[in-house]
Amino acid sequence: MISVSNVSLQYGKRILFDEVNVKFTPGNCYGLIGANGAGKSTFMKILSGEIEPNKGQVSILPGMRMSVLKQNHFEFDEYTVLDTVMMGNKRLYNIMKEKDAIYAKEDFSEADGNKAAELEAEFGEMNGWNAESDAATLLN
Ligand SMILES: Nc1ncnc2c1ncn2[C@@H]1O[C@H](COP(=O)(O)OP(=O)(O)OP(=O)(O)O)[C@@H](O)[C@H]1O
Ligand SMILES: [Mg+2]
Repeated sequence: MISVSNVSLQYGKRILFDEVNVKFTPGNCYGLIGANGAGKSTFMKILSGEIEPNKGQVSILPGMRMSVLKQNHFEFDEYTVLDTVMMGNKRLYNIMKEKDAIYAKEDFSEADGNKAAELEAEFGEMNGWNAESDAATLLN
């Protein structure tokens, strides 16, 4: 699902990765282990595209989408676990919020109705009605 090809990265004289090749295949769970400062967080940032390696590339299967949960214990305190997972799909989550805001309006105009219809269509195409059960399956 995710392929890492010939990835190299160094900071100054410190070589973190030298020609790394690895394939992550669907259906598996992976854990990344290593000593403090070995480069685990840096590797995750390369996988997610947050930083570019000096050489090599990361590719993801066409039609797949990557979600990343930041290692920040407090960032999602105000959200439920299910919402936190669904927020990984930013576009879908924004559509949900926009829809809720429109439906909560007291003065619901024709333009609001049209906008809501557009959002519902995109929401349906993105399989939005299954998002919550998909998130629950993923957590299981
Ligand atoms: N932007 C940067 N510029 C220079 N050096 C960096 C940079 N980012 C990370 N490093 C160095 O690269 C090495 C790997 O850092 P990284 O944070 O990836 O390690 P880690 O394996 O996640 O460590 P920890 O177990 O402490 O979370 C460290 O020596 C760090 O100081
Ligand atoms: Mg780290």
